[in-house]
Amino acid sequence: MSDIFEKAELVLAEINAQSPANAAELEAFRIQYLGTKGLIKGLMEEMRNVPNERKRDYGQLMNRLKQDAETKHDALKEVFEAQAQNAAGSALDLSAPGEPVPLGSRHPVAVTMNRIVEIFTRMGFSVADGPEIEDDWHNFTAMNTPEDHPARDMQDTFYVVDAPGMLLRTHTSPVQARVMENRQPPIRIIAPGRVYRNETISTRSHAQFHQVEGLYIDEGVSFADLKQTLLYFAQEMFGATKIRLRPSFFPFTEPSAEMDIWLGTDTEKNYRLTKGTGWLEILGCGMVDPQVLENCGIDSKKYSGFAFGMGIERQALRLYEIGDIRLLFENDVRFLRQFAAAM
Ligand code: PHE
Repeated sequence: MSDIFEKAELVLAEINAQSPANAAELEAFRIQYLGTKGLIKGLMEEMRNVPNERKRDYGQLMNRLKQDAETKHDALKEVFEAQAQNAAGSALDLSAPGEPVPLGSRHPVAVTMNRIVEIFTRMGFSVADGPEIEDDWHNFTAMNTPEDHPARDMQDTFYVVDAPGMLLRTHTSPVQARVMENRQPPIRIIAPGRVYRNETISTRSHAQFHQVEGLYIDEGVSFADLKQTLLYFAQEMFGATKIRLRPSFFPFTEPSAEMDIWLGTDTEKNYRLTKGTGWLEILGCGMVDPQVLENCGIDSKKYSGFAFGMGIERQALRLYEIGDIRLLFENDVRFLRQFAAAM
């Protein structure tokens, strides 16, 4: 009976001595030892001839045979497969044309922002930016909206819990404050950027949007300069022929106004858009309040200036005749692709 043990030990030694050199040899190895008609299967069948008291030992020996053969087989299989893949890789035709890379397009809000920026830079404004997480001073207090001022209700925002006094800016006006603190007039800047408000006026409203604000300060800047600058903008941006300035209120400007552009009522669309008046509101503006100049270290007796601010999403809706503002946030590529040609 020790014959069969000897035979099995021999096969085990054979398995461990083998080293198939390629996939074909490995397959031969598999068939020889692990196949359904292989050596190991044959040896297993001998089990019934092994006396009972030695069956356990024989079983353990069989397990070792099987394990050794399988481990060797699986490890080599991985090696040969990796080699085959590398070989395929080196057969790559490097002169073949590349995979096409789909080009993205600018977001309509970015396109609109660039267009606004471009118009104002043509008039000598330069772009300024600042942090989106602002301090209370730059966002509110410097802008003539101290802590208990009712106008704060118009611009509720999100506060940073771990940093008292820090908040998400509600407009890009704090950029103006930062520029004025650091420079003396003449100042001619526009501040495009993302702003935040904590408001749920309607299901369409969104906690963030984009603005462009402008600031012009020098000696002798008047309301006439404001009006002419904004008229030029309305002409360039919308092809508008007329603007209208309606009295309004902002804490940081005095006097303040809302600017409307003339669309007329001759088409049904314009009639609807302007609620039958022909006028469409575009932006807020005014002469910088002398208190704001003083807050930021500018001599209000020597200098004066104007400021304006507008929401970009609204202008984008206008420009591209987009019916629902939510399309601008959902970022469905089927929508965005339509702007591929816009710059
Ligand atoms: N900061 C104002 C707002 O966000 C816009 C504005 C800017 C109005 C400058 C007047 C002058 O509503």
